[in-house]
Amino acid sequence: MINKIAVLTSGGDAPGMNAAIRAVVRACSFYQLECVGVFRGFQGLVEGDFKTLGPRDVKYIISKGGTILKSARSKDFMHPEGRQKAYNHIQEHGIDALVVIGGDGSFTGGLTFSEEFDFPVIGIPGTIDNDIEGTSHTIGFDTALNTIVEAVDKIRDTATSHKRLFFVEVMGRDAGHIALNAGIGVGAEEILIPEENIGLPKLLEKLKKSKESGKSSCIVIVAEGDKTGQNVFELSEYVEANMPEYDVRVSVLGHLQRGGAPSCFDRVLASRLGVEAVEALRKGKSKIMVGLINDKIAHTSLEKAIKGAAPIDEEMLRISDILSV
Ligand code: F6P
Repeated sequence: MINKIAVLTSGGDAPGMNAAIRAVVRACSFYQLECVGVFRGFQGLVEGDFKTLGPRDVKYIISKGGTILKSARSKDFMHPEGRQKAYNHIQEHGIDALVVIGGDGSFTGGLTFSEEFDFPVIGIPGTIDNDIEGTSHTIGFDTALNTIVEAVDKIRDTATSHKRLFFVEVMGRDAGHIALNAGIGVGAEEILIPEENIGLPKLLEKLKKSKESGKSSCIVIVAEGDKTGQNVFELSEYVEANMPEYDVRVSVLGHLQRGGAPSCFDRVLASRLGVEAVEALRKGKSKIMVGLINDKIAHTSLEKAIKGAAPIDEEMLRISDILSV
């Protein structure tokens, strides 16, 4: 019997995490379950940093970026002693199950804990990177894309005014989902992602071709994990040296991609997944991630969600090639 559910946010924050917290808290209230918020991710579990949350405690947070529960990447929880402390706090507070909102690192922590103590854990995918198998969208991805599109549209204005080539670095850790989708969204001339790593000579060839086709300015979206160059600045130096006709600039968008009010898509996604997590726990499910596949709620084992990498959509690559002609 599940009577009391704890919820935490872990790893890099993502817009829409608050909407997911709200959904978990309100679904608990709907089903007359107690809900406890855990602060600073697994670190709060180790330290017993808990707060009971009722439906009014989460009012108006659906529109806020970041996470009211704070987030952390806990080192203590990586050790058995830390996890034992966490379990002791869970027992003291009579908590029956845990909802982890985060990415694959957070799910790894949740799965280890679940297996060690035979404790029910459910994951909700919350990361801007969209790099988790078992869901077409992670919470925060859509908002980050919209933020990037808004920023790069502005860069485009100045790029065209000066006939410049801009390398714009975007986040995504080891994955190119953010770069590929944002790149198509801004009409980038070139998109560099780690799943391709096209190499410097090929990049130069493509940029020269683009220049010859009559383009006077250029936007290249670079995923932070891409290894076409050592880093985005090396790319810039290489192209400037080999294409003197271009004035080259670099823009690293950085953490602004993680902030801001969540998009409607992320709010709705987080709301659906938050309710599903509570309902799944009530049905006795554990060690699964709730996600979205073909716009339907889907369950994926945490093991699969952690190990599998969400593949790059080849169709998107094809489209980007056609449109950058
Ligand atoms: O996983 C989300 C993410 O924003 C990645 O895209 C990025 O590589 C990383 O987190 C940055 O982490 P931090 O905030 O610790 O610098």
